[in-house]
Amino acid sequence: MAINIYNEDDFKKLREAGILARQVLDYISEFVVAGVSTNHIDKLCYDFIVKNGAIPAPLNYHGFPKSICTSVNSEICHGIPDDSVILLDGDIVNIDITVIKDGYYGDTSRMYKVGKITDKAQKLIDTTYQCLMMGIDAVKNGGFVSDIGKVIESYAHGKGFSVVEDFVGHGIGTDFHMDPYIYHFHNTNVPDVMIKEGMVFTIEPMINEGVKDAIFLKGNDWTAYTADGKLSAQFEHTIGVGKNGVEIFTL
Ligand code: MF3
Ligand code: CO
Ligand code: CO
Repeated sequence: MAINIYNEDDFKKLREAGILARQVLDYISEFVVAGVSTNHIDKLCYDFIVKNGAIPAPLNYHGFPKSICTSVNSEICHGIPDDSVILLDGDIVNIDITVIKDGYYGDTSRMYKVGKITDKAQKLIDTTYQCLMMGIDAVKNGGFVSDIGKVIESYAHGKGFSVVEDFVGHGIGTDFHMDPYIYHFHNTNVPDVMIKEGMVFTIEPMINEGVKDAIFLKGNDWTAYTADGKLSAQFEHTIGVGKNGVEIFTL
């Protein structure tokens, strides 16, 4: 499949979409507290995004019912906001925002702490953030997509954690999910892709406290959980390979 190459005008639009997605994450942080439902957070994000002239990309995406993803504790990704999910002291939660602004997508997520969390949870969050930033650092014009997964995997393993293999980063821009797909581990089963100027994609490592395996539980077909019920964390940025190096649109 062909990989989209974006020009400077596209980069301007991608910057605007990325900044808005990041602003949603900033805006929501004061509301992520014990006693609040994830559905309340979803509503606040929906209003903020629409007020800023954008569309929440997850809403109705392949039938996804909400505007954002909220993944709590052992949920790896694609947690569905719900009135019945009330945040509790000690929870860790990933909030994943994707907006469409002027036809361009910005996709970013980060971890939030509810009250006081364990040292282990903090170490998982710190490691996952480092994995994302080291992955971004590995992106070079003329380098390879496999460079990203290699550094993420070796850093996570060094900290005693595992890397989820069932979900990937992705090309993005004028569509939500497209080539190239970005593995967060060293995947020797796929052809490698050379990174070129104008490519735009996400890096979004999911790092687990225990086993890497994901399972789906009864209730919905979306939400992935750790197979052993232990914690999972994730951070995501949308980046572009520009003339003057790598740009993080969602920083
Ligand atoms: N934002 C997610 C990603 O990083 C995708 C969510 S799709 C949804 O790719 F339908 F689950 F919302
Ligand atoms: Co993404
Ligand atoms: Co996302």
